[in-house]
Amino acid sequence: MISVAPVSSLRGEITVPGDKSISHRSIMFGALAKGTTRVKHFLEGADCLSTIACFQKMGVSIEKQGEEYLVHGRGLHGLMAPSDILDCGNSGTTTRLLSGILAGQAFSSVLTGDASIQKRPMKRVCEPLSLMGADIKSIPGNGCAPLAIMGAPLHGITYHTPVASAQVKSAILLAGLYADSPTTVVEPALSRNHTEIMLRSFGASILSDGCSATVQPAAELYARDILVPGDISSAAYFAVAAAIVPGSEVLLRNVGINPTRDGLLRVLQAMGADVTLLNSKGQDNEPSADLLVRSSTLHATSIEGNLIPTLIDEIPVLAVLACFADGTTVIRDAAELKVKESNRIRTVCDGLLAMGADVTETEDGMIIRGGKPLHGAVIDCHDDHRIAMSFAVAALAAEGETTLSGGECVNISYPAFYQDLASLSSL
Ligand code: S3P
Repeated sequence: MISVAPVSSLRGEITVPGDKSISHRSIMFGALAKGTTRVKHFLEGADCLSTIACFQKMGVSIEKQGEEYLVHGRGLHGLMAPSDILDCGNSGTTTRLLSGILAGQAFSSVLTGDASIQKRPMKRVCEPLSLMGADIKSIPGNGCAPLAIMGAPLHGITYHTPVASAQVKSAILLAGLYADSPTTVVEPALSRNHTEIMLRSFGASILSDGCSATVQPAAELYARDILVPGDISSAAYFAVAAAIVPGSEVLLRNVGINPTRDGLLRVLQAMGADVTLLNSKGQDNEPSADLLVRSSTLHATSIEGNLIPTLIDEIPVLAVLACFADGTTVIRDAAELKVKESNRIRTVCDGLLAMGADVTETEDGMIIRGGKPLHGAVIDCHDDHRIAMSFAVAALAAEGETTLSGGECVNISYPAFYQDLASLSSL
């Protein structure tokens, strides 16, 4: 149980933790590479630690040396059969990307995770992997984990994914490294492309063309050093908080602004937020910048279409932002939110209603009529880190105290979230 009181302003600067998606991939691709991959600014959240634990169970030595993680890769064909079930915890990225990797191994394995993971759809990876020749099945038979995977010879396919999902795309591309011919994934809208960028830098041949990516079978991947940029999904909470709490000015250092992830910035700008990008730099083809955010008057916008995959994890906190904007904000084309760590359409609307917002849940999003003052409430976080952090932000600009029931779940992606928030807050 966490209590959050309103603040008079937010001021100061912080460096948000490393990007979750890039941290997972640095361990996975490092494990499959020849040589030692050194990872700086790795996110030590529970999800990424689950990825480390899974690869350690497959014989990969991963150690922390000072501020860096060292992944001693075993080569593309060097993973060892795990003697135990692989526990992905709460992490969809671990479960889905690992499925793609395991499909091409010369051993059998079982993947599972916590109660939330066991409810999330895995058919979306099992189906395309099966088309590649993989032997992968849902043990309970409901399309969910635990998954039993028997390594099998794979062949390349061209697959049109029904959903824009980087986890699905990445699972297929990773399996494609082990296939006997090229593999192409075509998405309905472009999802985050961290897999393509990082695999390429490890020596894989991957061609991206609009919403399509093609990987060639690989003989080996080669280790390299990785500097993980700050996670824009974590920065989003402070950016929104600074935008809605009057008198705020917050500097967020070294935030990843890959164009497949920067929908947050586009929406903030469209709503009239005062956001300045400073010190832009391109590191390893993953651009980053410092974000300076000041409070300002906000107006409504619509969030839909191809923009959705570029801000999918930020929608809960953008819904909070919309409560403080003049006019009606419509979020649509976001049905994917229903199959995240919680049904985020439902959990966001329920929480906002409890705080007095004027919001209507729809099939694929929500409608938020901004301008109604929020008041403190008891919020059920549903073990969903992004719900906890979004409502912590809402609480800063509400009247009275808010209680986040299960608010400790921020440890999934941002263990020091409440400390960082406190460091910026003036009461
Ligand atoms: C992620 C992709 C997204 C995102 C998740 C991380 C990734 O999921 O919501 O937090 O690292 O590839 P989907 O691919 O299912 O949209």
